[in-house]
Amino acid sequence: MNNFPSLLEGVLVNIWGGNKERLDGRQLRDTRRAIAQIRAIYRFKGEHGTQQPSKINYRLKNKRAGYIAGFGERHAYLPYLQLREVNAIKPDAIPQPRGKKNELTVTSLGAGACIELYGICLYYMGGNQQPLYLNLNWVEREREWIPNRGYVFAKVLKESFPKLDIDPLDICLDLREDNIIKLAQHYDRLLNTDILIIYNVLNEIPSGYTRHVWRNLKFLLDIFQKPVLILMMEPSSDRAEPRIHPLKTQLAQETNIITESKVEQFVFNAAPVCIEMNASKECLNHRLFGIRIDGGRPPTFETTIRRSHMACIKVPNSPITMEQVSRQLFQLEAKRGRRGAFIAHRDYTGKQASFKDIDSQWNQ
Ligand SMILES: C[S@@+](CC[C@H](N)C(=O)[O-])C[C@H]1O[C@@H](n2cnc3c(N)ncnc32)[C@H](O)[C@@H]1O
Repeated sequence: MNNFPSLLEGVLVNIWGGNKERLDGRQLRDTRRAIAQIRAIYRFKGEHGTQQPSKINYRLKNKRAGYIAGFGERHAYLPYLQLREVNAIKPDAIPQPRGKKNELTVTSLGAGACIELYGICLYYMGGNQQPLYLNLNWVEREREWIPNRGYVFAKVLKESFPKLDIDPLDICLDLREDNIIKLAQHYDRLLNTDILIIYNVLNEIPSGYTRHVWRNLKFLLDIFQKPVLILMMEPSSDRAEPRIHPLKTQLAQETNIITESKVEQFVFNAAPVCIEMNASKECLNHRLFGIRIDGGRPPTFETTIRRSHMACIKVPNSPITMEQVSRQLFQLEAKRGRRGAFIAHRDYTGKQASFKDIDSQWNQ
């Protein structure tokens, strides 16, 4: 039996508040109710309804707890499977940690509690416990996640991967708004991104905001200075498609696709990403999904997930050549006539030359 569910239980206690190791009876009941609510909202997934993913208010504890309890284990394992698939198809697309500290920079959009970093660390650190220094650019709308994310770092990740160090940068913004100026304030950190994670966030943004989301995303793509591996996973239901498909298409046009699927079922039935339940009080999955409480049926135990996904590589835009820069500077120095046309230029010898001469000098 793996240790992950008991680590996840600590996250739930941290969300509800308190410092016990286990959920108490009331917290357990509230968590089960919250799972049912969150799953109902996701199942609806409509654009025009009373309940839809874009209305989930993660500032509320019950929404954060319901989400982590209902999806946390599967979402934590997903990047591991996706990275393994990328490695099987195009091993050189997997970014390698660099430098003395073995550094990797991950930017995550709609990062929440960063539970998916578990799968990233499992992939990089699972077999051999090499040290890893993770620079995390946390892009997220709701600050309420920050203490829960702190717990994920300190307990879930650090206890599973003792040689891991994380340096988080909080970039609190709403992807529905034009936030290029805010992103530009963190230019130095963002441009060094190795992996860009877009997991389970686009489906929470109504399709009317696609243009703004794309502007923010495009800004990131344009500043990347080295090849960046982009990992995307979103719910695959038809109703979620208007929120995901246009952005996925635009992303596909700007990148080199490694693997893509409109819908794929991921199964978590083999170590190290096996989701299981045994009939013991120790097992969180058993208490959440295996027993009736006060006559109430438990939420369904899920060991698979269906996702629309894509992994692709963004190759940096080719830098302007020195020749182009010199030519532009040369032309800027050229004298313009009253109508703005280039007419003359003082060449390096100080002699006046006509614009015709400039071009011929250049083309020599
Ligand atoms: C379902 S959670 C996904 C968390 C994590 N990426 C995962 O896969 O487990 C979606 C996250 O996206 C954030 N989010 C939703 N809409 C957003 C927006 N417009 N701008 C920034 N973050 C947003 C939510 O606050 C939430 O934390």
